[in-house]
Amino acid sequence: MENAKKRIFSGIKPTGDLTLGSYLGAIKNWVGFQDEYECLYCIVDLHAITIRNDPETLRRRAREQLAQYITAGLDPKKSVIYLQSHVSAHAELGWILGCYSMIGELNRMTQYKEMQKKQANNLNSGIFTYPVLMAADILLFDTELVPVGEDQKQHVELARNIAVRFNGVYGDVFKLPEPFVPKVGARIKSLTDPTAKMSKSDDDPQGSVYIMDSPDAIMKKFKRAKTDSLGVVRFDPENQPGIANLMTIYSAVTGRSYDEIEREFDGKGYGVFKPAVAEVVTDVLRPIREGAEHYLSDGADELERIYREGAERARDLSEPVLNRVRRVIGFVER
Ligand code: TYM
Repeated sequence: MENAKKRIFSGIKPTGDLTLGSYLGAIKNWVGFQDEYECLYCIVDLHAITIRNDPETLRRRAREQLAQYITAGLDPKKSVIYLQSHVSAHAELGWILGCYSMIGELNRMTQYKEMQKKQANNLNSGIFTYPVLMAADILLFDTELVPVGEDQKQHVELARNIAVRFNGVYGDVFKLPEPFVPKVGARIKSLTDPTAKMSKSDDDPQGSVYIMDSPDAIMKKFKRAKTDSLGVVRFDPENQPGIANLMTIYSAVTGRSYDEIEREFDGKGYGVFKPAVAEVVTDVLRPIREGAEHYLSDGADELERIYREGAERARDLSEPVLNRVRRVIGFVER
């Protein structure tokens, strides 16, 4: 390989406005990798169309997500930042890998099983083969590390299994990727239902804190967060799932351990704890939101320049891998 740095790939699909979960489970961790690794951070809009989107909303979300990536600390000078639909290699490798993925293994994907229930009215085959496209995203760049939240770990493992199967037939074509799941923040729960994931596409906007929420809205959501009647700030996910979730958020944002948080709020009750969580969250999200608002109102040209350059670099980086794949499979050289 011409580059000594290991590669990282990760992405978020613009199916909803980004949440605190997207930030703590993914973006926050991506920022710190940029010096040590060669990173590709993608807005995976091909993945977004497994649900029906209003076209203008999809476009707005993709641009907004790009702005948020940048103001959260992703640096286009260091990392390759782009939109998936601008690099057709993703779709090509996605098709190829589909022919090396088994229906049985796709059937076992937890997220697919959930979608069968949640999206019964539009159970298109994209929902079923979506993890194959995700495998293509990863394998297309000789990726070694994939920073994701807990819910995507199974898909990264599938990508690895597909790579092993392909390599078993053709030799060492793909690098084998590993998931990187943060110790704290990998599974942020809904504020209104602490047994469910905080999700971009939640029907209940009170359950999710969005990156673009105002400080007021954030405070209200945390004050109304579902807790319990025990009244002690203690990390006990089984009996106090709401408080455990708030402690996880507080810990992921401040870096303080659960022990330290228990000591800090000893004898202080939820009336003190909840606003304290809202405040640290507001402090961390405010510059991202304000920066993104600025980009969206005044920085359209710069955003365009960033995603164009990013796509060009991604295309260049994907070419050697895709050529390797085409050659070993037996396609006639172009
Ligand atoms: P997506 O768009 O659902 O989520 C993007 C990233 O955010 C993480 N995440 C969370 N982490 C903690 N708590 C939460 N409540 C929470 N909600 C979301 C997710 O784990 C993920 O890391 N299939 C992927 C997108 C994708 C991708 C890829 C990721 C497509 N191709 C290649 C990595 C590599 C998805 O739907 O993520």
